[in-house]
Amino acid sequence: MAPHGIRFKHSVITIFIFLALLWLQWHWRNRIIYRASYGLPPLRQMIPGQIVDTEAQIRLWRALEHLLTSNPPGIPRPAQSGSIPEIKYQVQEHAFQEMISMSDEQVASMKEGHGGFVKGLSVHQLHPVYNKRTRGIVCTAGGGYLPLVVITLRLLARLGSTLPMEVFLEAGAEYESHICEVILPILNARCVILGEILNAAPHPRQIGRFQLKIFSIMFSSFEEVLFLDADSLPIQDPLRLFESEPFKSKGLVLWPDFWYPTPSKYFFDIAGISQPSNALRQATESGQLLISKKTHWKTLLMAAYYNYWGPDHYYPLLAQGGAGEGDKETFIPAARVVSEPFYQVTEKVAAIGNGDPNTDAMLGNAMLQFDPIEDYRLTSKGIYRTTRPSAEHSPKPFFIHINLIKFNPKQIYDDKLIMRWPNGSYRRAWTKPEVVMDLLDIDAERMYFEEAKWAACNLMHRFRDWYGKDDICRKAKEHWEIMYSGERS
Ligand SMILES: *[C@@H]1O[C@H](CO)[C@@H](O)[C@H](O)[C@H]1NC(C)=O
Repeated sequence: MAPHGIRFKHSVITIFIFLALLWLQWHWRNRIIYRASYGLPPLRQMIPGQIVDTEAQIRLWRALEHLLTSNPPGIPRPAQSGSIPEIKYQVQEHAFQEMISMSDEQVASMKEGHGGFVKGLSVHQLHPVYNKRTRGIVCTAGGGYLPLVVITLRLLARLGSTLPMEVFLEAGAEYESHICEVILPILNARCVILGEILNAAPHPRQIGRFQLKIFSIMFSSFEEVLFLDADSLPIQDPLRLFESEPFKSKGLVLWPDFWYPTPSKYFFDIAGISQPSNALRQATESGQLLISKKTHWKTLLMAAYYNYWGPDHYYPLLAQGGAGEGDKETFIPAARVVSEPFYQVTEKVAAIGNGDPNTDAMLGNAMLQFDPIEDYRLTSKGIYRTTRPSAEHSPKPFFIHINLIKFNPKQIYDDKLIMRWPNGSYRRAWTKPEVVMDLLDIDAERMYFEEAKWAACNLMHRFRDWYGKDDICRKAKEHWEIMYSGERS
């Protein structure tokens, strides 16, 4: 009896030790690979991509397209007497300016289309298509934006993010097989060709640059989406945003632009909602946004209407030619029309850049957007730093939207203004304003150019955008050596 019992005990212990070693080895390997990731991304990221039901998406798009085309504005583009001037948001009420003129008949026609669409939504019951309980990042790219997306993905991995990404390409012509089939899957991302869904409708229609965003969100496979412009760079792991307020209760989180909102009064008449004071919030900057398709499906459908009929009608009505007119102003009105909640960060977007070589005056080249969790914590206690900046310490920066020029390794190293002093020596791109730069916990610029160098040297002949650019790696290395190699990250 006794020896048998001991043998049994021994084998249990052996199996236990074996499993423990296996577990340790797995973690060790991942950790090592993660740490040494300059050639290889972390293994634990290699989650198989979730594939969505494309047939169901095509059915949805056909039904939605029918609803969109059968409720048109019914008039040509409204007359507009010029573009509205950009005025920096300053909290206090500011006189509305009206640049659009519409007759009563024209307003009535647009009202009819708008009302018909809203009514159609309740009659036709269009259901969203997504994989339940999934979260991910969506961006639109192609051409010169694809290298930026790969750099962003590597940065995300370094920040510890394991969120998958869907990269939407407008048409099959933008598909790059090596990037889409080899590089992106290693980084837990995949390509989706939007045209394959949109062109399956009876009236394929050219979908423009700004309209891509809304349809990419709509046809991504995720239930909860962080949309990122290809040039908007997260500088923290975005996972926390999904798990915290304000997203958990609001389901739609947006970030502010520099300007006052500049909608036309006619929009509110057409949509049947009140016109808010323009001091209530800044205009929207949609380089990044969070949305739940489960809780905000109606908002998305409404935004699809404003974008489908955007370029000639709702874009001008919602911004009157204001800075960056396009999809950005369609989300909040859409949510208001269908009575779904939203939160827009109040912390002012900050321009960052470097100094004028002669005067040292600030030259902005990117926008810094702040942590919505911290912002919401303050505003829900009634603390508004927009009116009293000294009331509380600033939330931490969360995204750098590099909006002025593309930081594409193909040309950024040759940039004479942002990247170099007048004598030709390299300089830092992000040094000002110091008070803002001090809020960053990481050296984002160094991290960016480290990954830019990785992409330039490992994928030099891979991106179509870089064909024939044989000195990208040499330039990226030279810049890196001169600027950062002596510093610690
Ligand atoms: C070029 O100009 C910058 C800024 O004035 C200076 O710091 C740097 O030393 C100069 N480099 C050379 C090689 O003269």
